[in-house]
Amino acid sequence: MSIYFDNAATSNPKPPAVVEAVAGALTRFNANPGRSGHRLALEAGRVVLDARQRLKELLGAEDATGVIFTLNCTDALNLAIKGSLRYGDHVITTMLEHNSVLRPLNELAQRGRISLTTIPPRDNGFIDPGDIAAAIRANTRLIVVTHASNVTGAIQPVAAIGQVARENGVRYLIDGAQALGGLPVNVQALRCDLYAFPGHKSLLGPQGTGGLYIRPGIELYTLREGGTGTGSDSVLQPRELPERYESGTVNLPGIAGLGAGCEYVSGHLSAIMSHERELTAALYEGLSQMEGVEIYSPAEEAARAGIVSFNLGDFSSSQVADALAQEDIAVRGGLHCAPGAHRVLGTLRRGAVRASVGHANTFEEVEQLLRTLREISVAYRPTS
Ligand code: ALA
Repeated sequence: MSIYFDNAATSNPKPPAVVEAVAGALTRFNANPGRSGHRLALEAGRVVLDARQRLKELLGAEDATGVIFTLNCTDALNLAIKGSLRYGDHVITTMLEHNSVLRPLNELAQRGRISLTTIPPRDNGFIDPGDIAAAIRANTRLIVVTHASNVTGAIQPVAAIGQVARENGVRYLIDGAQALGGLPVNVQALRCDLYAFPGHKSLLGPQGTGGLYIRPGIELYTLREGGTGTGSDSVLQPRELPERYESGTVNLPGIAGLGAGCEYVSGHLSAIMSHERELTAALYEGLSQMEGVEIYSPAEEAARAGIVSFNLGDFSSSQVADALAQEDIAVRGGLHCAPGAHRVLGTLRRGAVRASVGHANTFEEVEQLLRTLREISVAYRPTS
């Protein structure tokens, strides 16, 4: 029986309504949204509008026009980062970030365009908002922080950091890759200016979808310009949102699926969250009782997303992930594209095994994972 604990990479399975919505976009309303005025194009446009509205509700955004569809969360982060920065700006980020944040920032820093301060977490795995405040300079333009670490699941104090950013008049971007759809999010309460999210993780949409929340009044340089179906007599990019940041034909099948995923998540939000919290607790508890297991995720239930990362005995994380894959159990080993987090954990060489739960996982599957890990640890134990 196939068991899937790699939901932090991409959620699986998708609700049937998501699959139907993707198929519907390629059959029942297969046209170009926001361009022509015929029935099919209007229906396609309505699908995009509905998905945007659902995301606005999930984000707690002021206005649906401030929700921009992007290629994925990485694309949203690139738009937010590169669209915010000018030559000479200073940026503060953290060692817990994914390469989707670290690489665009370090690329700009290496080219001498910006200066960068990367804050380590405290020993407990959390960023201290005071450390962010202390790093602010006169030319600090942007603070970028992950909502929850994709390695440990540790939920960062993003609201307190938002307070620091707002008090100091610094633009604030949150990477919501492991949060939106799985944790409560309200962009206004978090006091963020920009919130990037994927469609294919906790929102249960297809791969190749994602978006960026842009607070009213926040302006970004565009990274790509082109046709928007609006103001076509002008050769200049329109100023209006969302068109300003959505040039070219959007991913209609993906957005249709994402809209259906959002509808499913919104309808089951508290049930999904408590189910995932309980599964994570069972996993954490089971692992903590196993001999030779080192866990890197927070012990406190309320402080972690649905991720438990660990290592087993002296094995490398790939050995364990591969052995689990042989038993048709999916987890992710290695560095999870987050080298700073592994540097902090001391796991840069061996990586960590990451098991991440989803809405469809069961307690039996958690038991099966734990049983298989016990078998692996016995079967591979070195004989002396
Ligand atoms: N960023 C995704 C992960 O953490 C793919 O696995």
